[in-house]
Amino acid sequence: MTETAIRLASPVADTFEPTIILYCCQWCSYAAADLAGAMRLPYPTNVRIVQVPCTGRVDVLHLLKPLEQGADGVYVSGCLPGECHYISGNLKAAKRVARVQKLIEALGVEPERVGIVYNSASMGPQFAQCCRDITERLRALGPIYSKD
Ligand code: FES
Repeated sequence: MTETAIRLASPVADTFEPTIILYCCQWCSYAAADLAGAMRLPYPTNVRIVQVPCTGRVDVLHLLKPLEQGADGVYVSGCLPGECHYISGNLKAAKRVARVQKLIEALGVEPERVGIVYNSASMGPQFAQCCRDITERLRALGPIYSKD
């Protein structure tokens, strides 16, 4: 039996698995992801982490392009409010996320496909929980583009 046939025969073959891009700032959220890994905390492989120097570096195009190219969701994970290593990067990221949410909603796309979360370097368990929550949210929304 080929690998494809095995996958199609699997009872989970019909389960939608979203692809999620998660921009993590190198100082806090990426360290939290590292900690979650070191603690062997499970979180869904749906989440593809992209390390950035600061969430302030994530611009509107970084949020829109993955959606255009088929990602089901794009999230940003930054330092806790007031703790950005570059002072206000996470606040700027939050404004951009809000702007993109309004933009995609106007285009008929669910705004929950884009969002921001905050995790400090010591928040490994919370980071893993964020990944599980985001994945569940996007699983419930279904694919961004229909297969038709
Ligand atoms: Fe973490 Fe700016 S350095 S959000």
